[in-house]
Amino acid sequence: MAFAEWADIAGPYDRSFGALCAQTIPAVLEELGAARFEARPADAPQRPLAGTPADAPQRAGSGVLLDAGTGTGALAVAAAQAGWRVQAFDAEPSMVDFARARTDAGGIRFDVARMPGVPYPDASVDAVAANFAINHVDHPRDCLADLRRVLRPGGRLAATVWPWEPTPTGRLWREIQEETGARPPEQSRLPAGSDFERTEDGLAGLLADCGFIEVRARRVRFTWRIDVDDLWSGVEAGIAVIGYAWRAADETTRERMRAAYDARTPALTGEDGLLQFEMSAVLASGARPVE
Ligand SMILES: C[S@@+](CC[C@H](N)C(=O)[O-])C[C@H]1O[C@@H](n2cnc3c(N)ncnc32)[C@H](O)[C@@H]1O
Repeated sequence: MAFAEWADIAGPYDRSFGALCAQTIPAVLEELGAARFEARPADAPQRPLAGTPADAPQRAGSGVLLDAGTGTGALAVAAAQAGWRVQAFDAEPSMVDFARARTDAGGIRFDVARMPGVPYPDASVDAVAANFAINHVDHPRDCLADLRRVLRPGGRLAATVWPWEPTPTGRLWREIQEETGARPPEQSRLPAGSDFERTEDGLAGLLADCGFIEVRARRVRFTWRIDVDDLWSGVEAGIAVIGYAWRAADETTRERMRAAYDARTPALTGEDGLLQFEMSAVLASGARPVE
C-alpha cells in the first residue's frame, strides 16, 4: 500500500529534497564510524543480515548498519561503500523500489516496513541511521524505542532533523507564498506529549528519554548547491511545505509560483550556475546501554 505523502515521488524527491537530505550523510556515517569495528569481538561469528542465507558472502570485520526511513537509499549506498553491511527500510513501497533499482545498490537489503514495529530481531544490528526520518513520524518516541530494540547493546543510533528556525530555502518559499497567495493546508504539529524541540538539546533530550546513553548532539553546516529545475521538480511533486502549497494551488497560482521562483533564483545562483543555500541540520546520536 502506498504511504500517503511519500507515494510515487521517488524520482523528483531524489533530484530535489533528497539531494538536500544527502548533505548530512558524511556526518551521520562519521558519527557511527567507530561502531563498525567495535561491532563484536573478532572471534565472534558473523551474523547474516536478517532474511539472507546464512552462507551469503560477508565482509569480514564490518558491522551491520540499519538505515531507517531510507527513502531513495542514498545513505544506505554510502554506508555500504564505507564498508558496512547494510539493511534498510522505508514505509513507502515506491521509495524502496527506487532504492533497489539504483545501480550502486547491489548487496544492500531493502525492505518495505513501517516503524514502530519493524520486522527485525532484537539486538540484530550494530548501528542505526535515521536521516530526516524521525521528523516525519507521528510517534517519534515509539519509533526510537523500536530502533533501540533492534540495536545491539553498545551500538549507536544517529538521527538528523531540520531545525525550526528561518532557513535560506524557507525564506525563498515564504516569499513565493506571500507574493502569490499560495497556501499549504493547515499544518498540525504533533501533540505536546509526542513532539520535541528541533534543536541540539531537543533531539538529544528525545534520545535520552528513549533510553539512549552517551548522547551527543551538534549542528552540521553546509552549502547546498542545486540546479534550478531539479529543486523545482520537488515542488511540483508536492514535497515539503512549498510542495503542499503547490498541490493546493490552482493552475493560475501555480504559474505565478513558478514566475516568482524564476524572478528570485538569479540572485541565489553562484558562478557554477547552481543555486546556493547556506543550510544546517541537527545531528544527535546515542548508544543502547549494555544491560
Ligand atoms: C525526508 S525522507 C528521508 C529519506 C532518506 N532518509 C534521506 O535521507 O533521503 C523521509 C522518509 O521517511 C519515510 N517514512 C516516514 N514515516 C515512516 C515510518 N513510520 N516508517 C518508515 N519510513 C517512514 C518516508 O517514506 C520517506 O521516504
